[in-house]
Amino acid sequence: MRFAVFLLTVISLAVEAKAFWLEDIKHQGVAPFGGNGYTIWRNVKDFGARGDGRTDDTQAILRAMNEPGNRCLQGCASTTETPAVVYFPAGTYMISSSIVTPYMTQMIGDPTNRPVLKATANFEGFGLIDGNPYYTENPNWITTNIFFRQVRNFVIDTTNIPPAKPATGMHWPSSQATSLINIEFNMPSTDDVVHVGLFIENGSGGFMSDLTFNGGASGASLGNQQYTMKNFTFNNCKTAIIQIWNWGWTWLGLSINNCDIGIDMSAGHDGDALLVGSLTVLDSSITNTRRGIVTGRTATSAPPAAGGIMLENINLANVGVAVAHANGETILAGGTRKVAAWGQGHRYTPDGPQVFRSDITPNRRTGALLAGDRYYTPSKPQYETLSASDFLSARDAGAKGDGVTDDTAAIQSVINRAASSRKVVFLDHGLYVVKNTINVPPGSRIVGESYAVIMGNGAAFQNMNAPKAVFKVGSPGQQGRVEFSEFIVSTKGPAPGAILVEYNLASGGQPSGFWDFHTRIGGYSGSDFMIPQCAKVVGSANIDPKCIAAYMGVHATKQSSGLYMENNWVWVADHDIEDPVNAQITIYGGRGIFIESTQGGFSLVGGASEHFHLYNYQFANTKGIFACMLQTESPYYQPLPDAIEPFPANPAIRDPDFVASCNGVQGNCANAWGVRIMDSSDIYIYGAGTYSFFNNYDTYCNPMENGANCQSRLNSIEGNIRNLNIMDLSTIGTTAMITRDGRDIARWQDNRNTYAANIILFRIP
Ligand SMILES: *[C@@H]1O[C@H](CO)[C@@H](O)[C@H](O)[C@H]1NC(C)=O
Ligand SMILES: *[C@@H]1O[C@H](CO)[C@@H](O)[C@H](O)[C@H]1NC(C)=O
Repeated sequence: MRFAVFLLTVISLAVEAKAFWLEDIKHQGVAPFGGNGYTIWRNVKDFGARGDGRTDDTQAILRAMNEPGNRCLQGCASTTETPAVVYFPAGTYMISSSIVTPYMTQMIGDPTNRPVLKATANFEGFGLIDGNPYYTENPNWITTNIFFRQVRNFVIDTTNIPPAKPATGMHWPSSQATSLINIEFNMPSTDDVVHVGLFIENGSGGFMSDLTFNGGASGASLGNQQYTMKNFTFNNCKTAIIQIWNWGWTWLGLSINNCDIGIDMSAGHDGDALLVGSLTVLDSSITNTRRGIVTGRTATSAPPAAGGIMLENINLANVGVAVAHANGETILAGGTRKVAAWGQGHRYTPDGPQVFRSDITPNRRTGALLAGDRYYTPSKPQYETLSASDFLSARDAGAKGDGVTDDTAAIQSVINRAASSRKVVFLDHGLYVVKNTINVPPGSRIVGESYAVIMGNGAAFQNMNAPKAVFKVGSPGQQGRVEFSEFIVSTKGPAPGAILVEYNLASGGQPSGFWDFHTRIGGYSGSDFMIPQCAKVVGSANIDPKCIAAYMGVHATKQSSGLYMENNWVWVADHDIEDPVNAQITIYGGRGIFIESTQGGFSLVGGASEHFHLYNYQFANTKGIFACMLQTESPYYQPLPDAIEPFPANPAIRDPDFVASCNGVQGNCANAWGVRIMDSSDIYIYGAGTYSFFNNYDTYCNPMENGANCQSRLNSIEGNIRNLNIMDLSTIGTTAMITRDGRDIARWQDNRNTYAANIILFRIP
């Protein structure tokens, strides 16, 4: 008897240990604008999906996606009001037509045993998962306005579909604050296969990681402004990657094995002009592949800087040709060897432009950013070894999350209790208003449900002469680390004195991590920075004080060090996400991301900072920064008002003084900097897309044929600089691409690329 009881206990423990904590946890997230009783959590099994490898589960999965609540589908521009987490336990789910994901859906599989979505032989649709369906000739959602969605932990299988019949694993044109993580695509690997694993034709991304593609005509066919793609593996594809078009792209930890072609970026070479602006590949390998990269670039191809390539730390094993022209010419020999660094395009070292196609000296990388001979880029924690009892819920702690109630005490108390008991805070979905600073102690781990929001509001955040942090991580001098994922820090208007995230911790050895952790300033229900309060103002420099929304996005203070940031979108909204036509708004956020850590050690992988008034990124008196695809946009309203009002330049945080620096400069000089680097060393930027699309809401100024002169200058390098390496810099709408100590040293006219201008290598030794 005792033995039997013991056995039963062991068995039930084993069974209990198996479920992913997210499935077991109490589901009590609230969507204050979703309607009465709106449900965020949907387990597909509760909607009748079987996952037995036989039953057609398409309709059950669609019920889970669509039924509870009024979800954002055909005809809906976008919304944050009706988020959903659609959860798939382990199993094989047969589907016969596309699973369309409504706006603001997170599709999550059990990471301990990834569910399989398997097409039936007669599958019909554009993608087993279709993230943006074509109900008309245009996709349902404007591809550059698709935010806040993700798919993770799945296997997507098209092997039942005849190889010669067109089939797509996922159709996913998307933009910032989205991600695909930990997905395997299985396709036939026959000679006649035409299947495509991942198809993206448009958008403004973005970040993805940990995807594997087996078989197919192309693993991934990709067109988008820019992306950072990390840890992608391609096995036995005809062509691993087809780049349809881009302005810039960073591949990090790419592994291509047994393919005919690795990356085909030659689109347009047989027509008038190349379509692929540039790409950077680092810390990667190509094995048993006939041609690594196929380019269309020649000495005379057009536009002159298009088709730029930067390779660094690439291991070749049995590669026919490393870089080949589409016409067959060998540009870089293959074999079995390491490519330390090689590039083609336009360079400034630091004078230029010089057109080159050759080996170059690799970056002198600094140790703190590395793991072995690669940059350290840890995957987002999913805490799959923990159980539900290891999490403390914000709602259980009494937080209301209704967008109105003061939740300061409840949020502070759950964070304190979790840190002292080594638990993880589960920030159930909700809009948590806080009336004062939330202090986050070292050791904190916080994971949000479907981008839960903490909103600083009220008297504490009104004074731009005495700004205060909404979310303060450690205090100056304190050591330790934190992990944050999948939530948002924001403000509820007005908030001219709010620093959204202040990072103070010195991490010692292991860096802290921010994964899918965003700041969103305005433009959504509950923020009070929407069309009724802050509809766009054209042709006037008047500043409405109720539309001043933040002092700064993210501040890494002097004594902080060691922070890994992945897929963080630090955004001042340019439009109202809930508006039926996504109408524009005019709101003001002072500064984007400011790093002034003297010890440094910051990694910014796949992030963007947009529409801040003074600058989007500023690095000052720091060192050791690794960044992939820093993407910026200047505010659409500038230069009316320009960057001089309403935020007075604060010398204590080295704000730009546009009154002094613009003296005598022609054009719109007092506009936000995209990236500003001052008195810093050991900076490694692999990909930057810095854009100025508007002059007071008019886009006429941005294309080259109209002068590319929305503003005079966009990127600034100042003071004492050592070992600065900017690879693959793209600019749009700015006369000067780079300004050094007030002198414009690179112009777009000398570096024409597809839509942007491009410099593939800028270096100050
Ligand atoms: C991308 O979108 C633009 C319009 O925004 C359209 O002109 C273009 O055809 C699209 N590209 C692809 C490959 O679908
Ligand atoms: C790469 O992704 C795979 C899943 O596709 C994962 O198992 C592996 O740990 C990742 N590797 C790194 C270095 O992140």
